[in-house]
Amino acid sequence: MSYLEVGVSEIPIELLLEADPSEETIASYLEGAWYFAAKRDEKVIGACIAKPINTGTAEIFNIAIYPQFQQQGVGSGLLRFALNELKTKNMQRVELSTGTFGYQLTYYQRHGFRVDRVVKNHFLDNYPEPIFENGIQHQDALRLYVAF
Ligand SMILES: CC(C)(COP(=O)(O)OP(=O)(O)OC[C@H]1O[C@@H](n2cnc3c(N)ncnc32)[C@H](O)[C@@H]1OP(=O)(O)O)[C@@H](O)C(=O)NCCC(=O)NCCS
Repeated sequence: MSYLEVGVSEIPIELLLEADPSEETIASYLEGAWYFAAKRDEKVIGACIAKPINTGTAEIFNIAIYPQFQQQGVGSGLLRFALNELKTKNMQRVELSTGTFGYQLTYYQRHGFRVDRVVKNHFLDNYPEPIFENGIQHQDALRLYVAF
């Protein structure tokens, strides 16, 4: 497995759709971002999109691993790599929005993220279709951060 920074042309849109069901939302954060990839046998199997949103602060807008490669440590390796790269790009803080339940919340907190605040109605206001996980509709989001 190799982790590296790549150009936007190397990031498959289907991969980003695993984490974010809206192509329109994806298009809104792709430009001017940093693109990190996990590659196996020269093939991209995971991607992480991050972008500066303020001086010294970046946001992770998308992190996804193809389903057949999930739960094998690739997502943890990619997140660790991306956080390290962001640190070397002089970011002192990384933020992201995620659902209020689900394994992703555990995953981020294992990597040092803490809860900053609740964003009421985030999934209702920003996505055209309802998003369900484990039979529960995502409504509010949690804003998480890690500071270096
Ligand atoms: C979130 C994601 C990037 C994590 O990548 P990954 O390669 O599966 O992660 P890892 O194998 O390093 O596992 C990280 C943790 O998540 C857990 N996990 C991953 N997929 C899971 C699943 N489908 N169900 C339950 N737990 C899961 C792992 O068991 C592990 O838990 P642990 O640290 O307690 O052992 C990946 O699962 C994914 O692409 N999910 C769909 C897109 C998504 O939800 N992105 C985040 C948007 S908020």
